Parts: sequence; C-alpha cells; structure tokens
Amino acid sequence: MREDQQRPVHLYNHQRNKFFITTKLFTHTTVYVIIVLLSYTLGYLSHSSPPPPPPPLPPPPSVFQLASLPTQLDNFRVAAHCSNSPLSPYLVFPTILQRVFQGSSPYTDFPPPHLRYILKPKRIRGWGSNGDVFEHLIKRVKPKLIVEVGTFLGASALHMVNVTRKLGLQTQILCLDDFRGWPGFRDRFKDINDINGDVLLLQQFMQNVVYFNATGSILPVPFSTRSGLEKLCEWGIMADLLEIDAGHDFISAWGDINGAYRILKPGGVIFGHDYFTAADNHGVRRAVNLFAQINHLNIRTDGQHWVIDTALVRKF
Ligand SMILES: C[S@@+](CC[C@H](N)C(=O)[O-])C[C@H]1O[C@@H](n2cnc3c(N)ncnc32)[C@H](O)[C@@H]1O
Ligand SMILES: *[C@@H]1O[C@H](CO)[C@@H](O)[C@H](O)[C@H]1NC(C)=O
Ligand SMILES: *[C@@H]1O[C@H](CO)[C@@H](O)[C@H](O)[C@H]1NC(C)=O
Repeated sequence: MREDQQRPVHLYNHQRNKFFITTKLFTHTTVYVIIVLLSYTLGYLSHSSPPPPPPPLPPPPSVFQLASLPTQLDNFRVAAHCSNSPLSPYLVFPTILQRVFQGSSPYTDFPPPHLRYILKPKRIRGWGSNGDVFEHLIKRVKPKLIVEVGTFLGASALHMVNVTRKLGLQTQILCLDDFRGWPGFRDRFKDINDINGDVLLLQQFMQNVVYFNATGSILPVPFSTRSGLEKLCEWGIMADLLEIDAGHDFISAWGDINGAYRILKPGGVIFGHDYFTAADNHGVRRAVNLFAQINHLNIRTDGQHWVIDTALVRKF
C-alpha cells in the first residue's frame, strides 16, 4: 500500500519532471524562434520600409524678411548722430568743461570743507592697471587724447599719466564712468564713504587725481558709458587711444566697444581689460571677437588685455 501509494507519487513526479523539461525545452525553442523571426522581420522592415517623410518645409520667406535679412545686425549697431568735423585736441578739455561742468573746473577748491575729513588723501586700487600694455600702446600711438571707459578710483588713468610724463608727452585723458561702481562693491571697498547713501566714488577719484598733481591731464565725464560715448561723438571728440574697462557682461562690453569705436581716430588703437581673466566668460571676449569679426579687424593680446590696432587692417 505504501509502495502503491508511493509509486504513483513517484511516477507522478517523474512525469511531472518530464513535463517540465519538455515545457522548458519548448519554451526555449519558441523564444529562440520568435527572436530569430522578429529580428528577420525587423531587418526586413527597416530595410524595405520607406524613409520617414521629411519635415514640412518652412513657408518661403516674405519679401520683407528677405530684404531685411542682411541688415539684421544693424539693429545692434549704435546709430546716434556724430559730428562730421573732429574737434582739435586743444579744444577737448575746454569743451568738456563748458558742456559738462558749466564752464568751471570740477577741481576748483577741491575738496570742499564738508568732504575734507571724509575723503582719504589717496585711495587707489585697480585691476591690471599697471600692466605693460599701457606703456606699449602709449609709446606706439603717442596719443594726444585718451578716453578711458571705466575708471573707478583712477588707478589705470593715473598710471597712464605716469607713462605719458615719463615719455614727455602732452596727453590728455577723459575718464568716462558713472562713478557708481556696481551693486555690492562696498563690501570689498569698505573705506569709501557715502553721504546719505550717495557713495563718494567720483569725489575719491578726484581726490586721487589731485593727490598725484594730475588735474591738468585728467577730466572725469561722470555719466553712463552709453550716453557719454554718444555725446562725445556728437561733440566731435575723437581719441587716439581708447581703453574699455566698464561693464564686463556681453551686452555692456558690446555696447561700449561699438560706441567707443565711433570716436576712435582712424589708425587709432582700442584696447581693454579682461580678455583672459574670469570675466572673459561673462562676455568680454565674445563681444570683442564678434566685433573684430564683423569689422574685419585683428585682435592681439597683451597680458590680460585685448588690443585692436586699426592701423593694422586685416589682409584677405
Ligand atoms: C573695473 S572698474 C574700472 C577699473 C579701472 N579701469 C582700473 O583699472 O583702475 C569698472 C568701472 O566701470 C564703471 N561702469 C560700469 N558700468 C558702467 C556704465 N554702464 N556706465 C558708466 N560706468 C560704468 C563702474 O562704475 C566702475 O568704476
Ligand atoms: C606714478 O609714479 C610715481 C613715481 O614713480 C609713483 O610713486 C606712483 O605710485 C605712480 N602712480 C601710479 C598711480 O601708478
Ligand atoms: C605734487 O606737487 C606738489 C607741489 O609741487 C609736490 O610737493 C608733491 O610731491 C607732488 N605730488 C606727487 C604725488 O607727485
């Protein structure tokens, strides 16, 4: 009975194993066949099916679009009116004194009594402002007028005064800056005071110019680079040497370079800071490269500075 009882179980188990093995075999074979069939089918399909239809063509451009296409870049160009007759270098300072300072020197009786104990005798800090590039370019151009776009406390401008003095040149420098710095700059420059929130950057710059006896060589033009460059061009003020070191984002650098180029004397040099430093990725280098490309000009570098010498026109 036991055996009988066991046997069927044994038999049953045996059959079950067989059944399992067969099923397994069957399953493996089926899967194999299916895979082979599928890959054949897919290969056949991918080979013989027609390529996907191309995306629909855009509608043909209108006449208006076609006409304006080549001039799209003009939208970004500075187009304000410039004087047709350049001002003599001797008339530049008198013109600025007249137009910007109502005829009297901003240095007269400077500093006034209420600032005497607020301003430091001298507070100078710049960025690459003592680089060799200044001496290289001043030696080469022997400029009568330099326009600096972005001055801050005057480090680079005063360095340029030093260089021109050493070379015996009668160079005049206009410093275009709104003298606001940038939001947060006083975290790094803690000793520049303010009066009721109005930071004394212009006054500290002037104090530095007075300290270095450079009031005869440097005049501030305390406006935004945009409006300042536009006015200089309108007044016929042309520079032999132009330094760009104001806003370092693409839009600012692009605007400054294009605005400044309009007041550059033929054969003059335009150069600027931060072609290589961390700021270059913020847009200075992209702006300079695009500008040079569009105007067929060569860029060379000198330390961290980019230099475009318009006396050296690119040969094609
Ligand atoms: C890096 S600092 C100039 C440093 C100076 N060239 C030196 O080496 O000593 C930049 C200056 O550009 C000025 N600036 C930035 N954007 C300006 C704008 N749109 N208009 C006028 N000045 C601007 C700031 O006030 C700041 O003083
Ligand atoms: C200018 O040169 C003098 C004399 O060599 C030096 O003492 C002074 O620090 C220089 N000024 C600047 C702003 O580089
Ligand atoms: C500025 O000129 C005064 C008077 O001539 C002189 O005493 C002083 O040393 C000069 N300062 C500089 C920085 O050259």
